[in-house]
Amino acid sequence: MAFPKAVTDAWHMVALSRDVKRGGVRKVSLCNTPIALFRSEAGLGALVDRCPHRNYPLSEGRVHEGALECPYHGWRFGVDGACEAVPGCMTETRSDAKLRAETVRVYEAHGAIFLALSEEAPERPDLPPDFGNPDLDHFWWQQGTWEGRAFDAIENVMDPFHTNHLHHGFIRRRDKRLPVNLIVTHFDDGIAMTIEQTQPDLGLMSRFLEKDRSRSISRYHAPTIVQARWEGETKLTLCVTAIFTPATDGTFTPFARFSTPKGLAPGWLKQAAIRLFLAPVVKQDRDALARQHEVMTHFGHPRFTSGPGDILDLRLHQLWQGHRLEPSEEEIVKAEL
Ligand code: FES
Ligand SMILES: [Fe+2]
Repeated sequence: MAFPKAVTDAWHMVALSRDVKRGGVRKVSLCNTPIALFRSEAGLGALVDRCPHRNYPLSEGRVHEGALECPYHGWRFGVDGACEAVPGCMTETRSDAKLRAETVRVYEAHGAIFLALSEEAPERPDLPPDFGNPDLDHFWWQQGTWEGRAFDAIENVMDPFHTNHLHHGFIRRRDKRLPVNLIVTHFDDGIAMTIEQTQPDLGLMSRFLEKDRSRSISRYHAPTIVQARWEGETKLTLCVTAIFTPATDGTFTPFARFSTPKGLAPGWLKQAAIRLFLAPVVKQDRDALARQHEVMTHFGHPRFTSGPGDILDLRLHQLWQGHRLEPSEEEIVKAEL
């Protein structure tokens, strides 16, 4: 199996609620399993994307009479997977277990749709702090499916050193660095890196979006969520929750939820500003992950060397694999970013 059990056993975000409207069908991929999501009067359904009859992809069907109809012979499946009708036949099919489509557990909250492929997943996804905090303005940003591995994307966002170089001018600068303290702490299902610095970053983004800065924290909540928080002297300036859903071995679907304190500026304005500044940075990361994946695919496997800046790498990998970290004292590393 390509993914650790801890990953296949977890809940994963696969779509925004607004992308699966009533009467709509959407194909998603999760850990190499294609799934048909659909919404009818009966609610939201998720079926493994293969008709139990003759293996036609159900995601190419339509929602009809409250069920998902396969385009091939028109069998209809309810949100619970039961076969509601075999057109042309008078037989009652609902209670016939062998005609059922395979269902996947669904959970929907905060404008997001989550799926669990495994029975071993807990009852609900475990969401990070402030994810649904009503005192903050939230908006979602979605970028389709990217080339590369979900784990490499997680490492990318947890790694501050690439920001001076790959994102030169946007986030930080490669020619002018600031002294920082990197503080690493372990917590129940993850690891956090706090960056303490005396002034905001020298890139464009901070100059426009941040007034003052005392610290930023990136927390990895295994297996697929990274939450970055920027805090000024007194309070939270911006919280970004990034979710990296493994779609296939070589692709992933990232989702980002931006949360900001209410009242500073209207939500739409903040949204426009964040999108404007972030778009080039996101593109740089997207291209880098695709190039990295191309090289790993060419050589048949990844090969990584850890340098002095790769403070978290082994531990990120352990968490991804489902291991827990021992409680430890905070570590402080001095660096220039
Ligand atoms: S293959 Fe789906 S109804 Fe026959
Ligand atoms: Fe980046």
